[in-house]
Amino acid sequence: MEATTFVLFGATGDLARRKIYPALYNLFLDHKLHNSFAVIGLGRREVTDEAYQAMVERSLRDFSRREVKDTASVRSFLKAFRYNVLDVGHTEDYVKLLERVEQVETGMGSTPNRMFYLSVGPEFFEPIALNIEASGLGAAKGWKRLVIEKPFGHDLQSAQELNLTLSKAFTEEEIYRIDHYLGKPMVQELDVFQQTNPVLHALWNNRYIANVQITAAETVGVEERAGYYDHVGALRDMFQNHMLQLLMMLAIRLPKDSSADEVRFKKREVMEALEPLDEANIEASVIRGQYTAGAIKGIPVPGYRSEAGISAGSMNDTFIAARLQIDDPFWKGVPFYIRTGKRMKEKSTRIVIEFKEPLKQSSTVEEDDIPNLLVFEISPNEGITLQLKARDPRNKGKFKAVHIDFHTSSIEVPEAYENLIHDALNGDPSFFAHWNEVELSWKWVQPILNAFAGNSVPLYSYAAGSHGPAESDQLLAQDGHHWWLDA
Ligand code: BG6
Repeated sequence: MEATTFVLFGATGDLARRKIYPALYNLFLDHKLHNSFAVIGLGRREVTDEAYQAMVERSLRDFSRREVKDTASVRSFLKAFRYNVLDVGHTEDYVKLLERVEQVETGMGSTPNRMFYLSVGPEFFEPIALNIEASGLGAAKGWKRLVIEKPFGHDLQSAQELNLTLSKAFTEEEIYRIDHYLGKPMVQELDVFQQTNPVLHALWNNRYIANVQITAAETVGVEERAGYYDHVGALRDMFQNHMLQLLMMLAIRLPKDSSADEVRFKKREVMEALEPLDEANIEASVIRGQYTAGAIKGIPVPGYRSEAGISAGSMNDTFIAARLQIDDPFWKGVPFYIRTGKRMKEKSTRIVIEFKEPLKQSSTVEEDDIPNLLVFEISPNEGITLQLKARDPRNKGKFKAVHIDFHTSSIEVPEAYENLIHDALNGDPSFFAHWNEVELSWKWVQPILNAFAGNSVPLYSYAAGSHGPAESDQLLAQDGHHWWLDA
């Protein structure tokens, strides 16, 4: 860790309050911030340094995973925070910002570095990056880095345009693209787990694995984000980024002690090996869904089209399920099923790996259909479970499932943003999305976007509080599989 000025655009916004300040605070408590660490918060509103610090403190009390008890340590943490007013389009505001940054750096004592964190809407990425460059803010004495968060574009073309603009101010090595799923502790476990356990390493291929199921189910609806969500849908909001990142993390095969470059290179290889979908036949592999009225945990909720801010005839996808195939020697023939949706029965992000049963007599579903499953629970619970099959001592001739598992307590484990901010400060890009991954993801998704836009794919409905449209079950049934929900 080195002396750093953390320049935060969008300092009074929701993401900053809910995630960024609590993450910095927990890093501070764990002595993971340099002594010379300063934050300059930026926003359009006039706010004094004191009022800004009070706001940061409130956010810690509301959202920190560790309770804020020790006021002396909070006070010492808050000393690092200053505020500057800035309108992203006003060139002169960047000049004033540069003065403030230089002032802060004078007291730092060692070569100061600059991290620009853009916690703002994507429409501001380009003007901010260009103004950083034009104002001289980008000419740091030490390193400079840019942290941005999805969405990286709206489709392939806009993503490419955005990247081109950013590259005028920052090199690829300087850009840290956050996909917060990559910061989740269990996701960071995925490659290491198979790599460091020879038993699993040996089984991690198409000889032993029957299929992989990646689910991110949410119980929430569109919340207050109707304006955004109705133009984005589950495909852009979750699938193109989080879900494909989970797939890459599960499917990569890494040499031991791989460097960040190797990790990203291998992820790129996975994306390159993903079999493209034929736009004329998307329906065969992709299920598009939208929720209708239903109930979540017994509480009635309206259908998507009756949500405030959503048009009555909206064809937006709130659910998507897809079958993907990776054409490489390890995974050829293993279907990867991905599904994600709003207003589903439970909040659960998990990956289930179903192992083959070579001794199974026929393809009929047997009474004791208890395959070996390896389940990664990513959130809200964090843990790993291995399902094995054992004789049921109480029922002669029958079998039962036994589970070997471990779970962690979320209070003790660093949150995604802590992991990611810490890595970005240390210059470790392993768990950030490289441009190649982003571009390849958009390329893969683009035919689906086209098919959705042209409505050449049916929009199936599902009741809020269910597991999604019945057609998503059919997708697996065609291959002789089914979703494992409660394993
Ligand atoms: C965000 C999406 O990226 O991820 C949201 O924009 C979604 O729509 C959220 O709710 C889910 O994140 P998590 O960490 O709660 O699974």
